[in-house]
Amino acid sequence: MSLLDTLTAYCANQFFTYGDCLQCPHPSGRCSGSCLKCSEEVNFHRIGGRTDYDCQKFMYYYVCRYSWKYCSEIMYALEQIDLSAYPVFNILSIGCGGVPDLMAFEETRPARDTTEIFYKGYDINPYWNPIHKAIKQYTLSTRDITAEFINRDIFDVLSDGKPAVRHYNVIVLEYLLSHFPPDNRMHLASVLFSELIEVVLSNRLSNSPFLFIINDIDHYGVRPLFDILLNKLNNEGYRFSYQKGHFKYRGSDYNDGSVQYFSDQNKFLIPDEIKDEFNCAINCTSAQLIVEVQ
Ligand SMILES: C[S@@+](CC[C@H](N)C(=O)[O-])C[C@H]1O[C@@H](n2cnc3c(N)ncnc32)[C@H](O)[C@@H]1O
Repeated sequence: MSLLDTLTAYCANQFFTYGDCLQCPHPSGRCSGSCLKCSEEVNFHRIGGRTDYDCQKFMYYYVCRYSWKYCSEIMYALEQIDLSAYPVFNILSIGCGGVPDLMAFEETRPARDTTEIFYKGYDINPYWNPIHKAIKQYTLSTRDITAEFINRDIFDVLSDGKPAVRHYNVIVLEYLLSHFPPDNRMHLASVLFSELIEVVLSNRLSNSPFLFIINDIDHYGVRPLFDILLNKLNNEGYRFSYQKGHFKYRGSDYNDGSVQYFSDQNKFLIPDEIKDEFNCAINCTSAQLIVEVQ
């Protein structure tokens, strides 16, 4: 079984056996009994609603709701890249959550490909910890995937200014930028990109291209942030190629150079009972920036 199958089965099982949320951290002080409702409150910043992923049962729900879609979106991105140029995948994932990016790397490698994957996931939210434990458990059953998780604020980690100990060749930001508060998002994105270039890219794996993937909501509050990274790479003198992609039909051209994918289909057949229970997000809808630094 793949990581996607294993983790969604684990989270579905945890969800069903979790029981009622007796000490609900919902701002209203009580659990509505509907994780779908909380999910929508977080997504659409409903006033008086849940503002963050701060409920254990909700985390299990989130993994079952979004993993197939988010994994599919990264798979589309990886199909744009010549993965054979990468001797290993040393992946730094920021705001990694339930690791749909790691699932996509596992799914996209050609059959019998044993290119090793090292995955380091940072997430500030401790509610992911039991899920990270289950992911680590899964990787122990594989010969070529290793995963480590750190429950810390990435800005604290990077502001130490020390070069990354590990030589990475992939950075993924999946639905991280949209999670930053809108009024400070541009500043945080700018600081994050500068520090990633200074601390991680400058200490990259030799003999490999370096891949950045940003996958996030196709929204005016996020798309312009992609250019901040491109400008910084330019200013630092890096040679790179890039492409921007999106899935949804856009009524008007945002002049951002993004090309619509030929398909927005999910890469998987999700079992009907899971689809219904977790209101699974099916079609791909994100906007992406894919950068390869030479
Ligand atoms: C919308 S979730 C996305 C999770 C996962 N990448 C996915 O695609 O499903 C955003 C994640 O970013 C994490 N996050 C936000 N700010 C962070 C920070 N400063 N440092 C580390 N993680 C952060 C949150 O805790 C949350 O789990």
